[in-house]
Amino acid sequence: MFKINDNYLKLPGSYLFSTIGKKVAAFQEANPDKNIIRLGIGDVTQPLAPAIIEALHKSVDEMGKAETFRGYAPDLGYEFLRSTIAENDYKKRGADISADEIFVSDGAKSDSGNIGDIFSVDNKIAVCDPVYPVYVDTNAMAGRTGDYIADEQRWSNVIYMPCTAATNFAPELPKETPDIIYLCFPNNPTGSTINKAELQRWVDYANKVGAVIIYDAAYEAYVSEPDVPHTIYECEGARTCAIELRSFSKNAGFTGLRLGFTVIPKDLKSNGVMLHSLWARRHGTKFNGAPYIVQRAGEAVYSEAGRKQTAEQIAYYMNNAKVIREGLASAGYTVSGGVNAPYIWLKTPDNMTSWEFFDYLLEKANVVGTPGSGFGPSGEGYFRLTAFGSYENTVKAIDRIKAL
Ligand code: MLT
Repeated sequence: MFKINDNYLKLPGSYLFSTIGKKVAAFQEANPDKNIIRLGIGDVTQPLAPAIIEALHKSVDEMGKAETFRGYAPDLGYEFLRSTIAENDYKKRGADISADEIFVSDGAKSDSGNIGDIFSVDNKIAVCDPVYPVYVDTNAMAGRTGDYIADEQRWSNVIYMPCTAATNFAPELPKETPDIIYLCFPNNPTGSTINKAELQRWVDYANKVGAVIIYDAAYEAYVSEPDVPHTIYECEGARTCAIELRSFSKNAGFTGLRLGFTVIPKDLKSNGVMLHSLWARRHGTKFNGAPYIVQRAGEAVYSEAGRKQTAEQIAYYMNNAKVIREGLASAGYTVSGGVNAPYIWLKTPDNMTSWEFFDYLLEKANVVGTPGSGFGPSGEGYFRLTAFGSYENTVKAIDRIKAL
């Protein structure tokens, strides 16, 4: 008799954004005349930049000719993309990462879930609270999180690092020593950041206690302040304790195209074994590489035109962030984030729970956001809005919220 992975049975409900999608679809069906504005999931709305479209067209044409056709991509990524990334995202920032330490993938969500494959089930994870749910849910699927305590909305074997107004929405070093530490800066969902000295403390701590940091830098393109690091490898010693996850979704609008990469320095070892070798083995066995045309599109993001055009899109979204932040603050809401990140984190009014505010906003203003409690127990009483909508919809949504 076959047996299932019964860790799946411990997972509460469905994936956060699936639950929201279902609620919104039901509301729209019951209210077909309502114009719903979606500022929930962090999905981009601006079309791909012309330089990226041009690279796509060109590479599609190559696929149609015998002399330039490409079959399976190299499983770790094409050299042209890996060396472009190493040069632009790392060497230019003074970070010592080489092309062969970069593994190209179909996105940071898959990598953040899959990375657990190379770690023993016995590792104890530490996560920020609130947190991007993929880190916790995928560890639960692997059997690393213990049991779910529904009353407390937490797992029994996870170290939660509260990120609250009292901590400036940043985590403090945990009292219990973890094996794997998940950090995401600029942060999803709170939009907070930490400066380089603060990140250096985490690197020093991880090296001291023998932990590995899984650093999700999917939102690095939104960093606007000079002291906020773009990559963990700006910190001394990160090569021996950190894996970095990166995405093309938020900086260049690839949410539908799919492209990302993971960096594992060769100096990162456990008892002499390089994590780089394990991930290469895993990648080679379970993945056939991101499509050639998408990797060419990724390369175009770093061209002169690509850089300029994607910077304009980021500025567009960050202007939305300003509209949301300033609009809500002027209406008396307590808001944070939205300066180095495309997310605005607000305190729900009148002590509403996060889900109560979700329903209230959907029904009364026809605006969709994300309930803070969906990201963890410390998110209760908070709400996330994304700056990834169109400017017109963002202005309209804030006007509707202000009019409540
Ligand atoms: C979010 O809304 O948190 C993100 O869009 C989810 C993701 O990037 O997978």
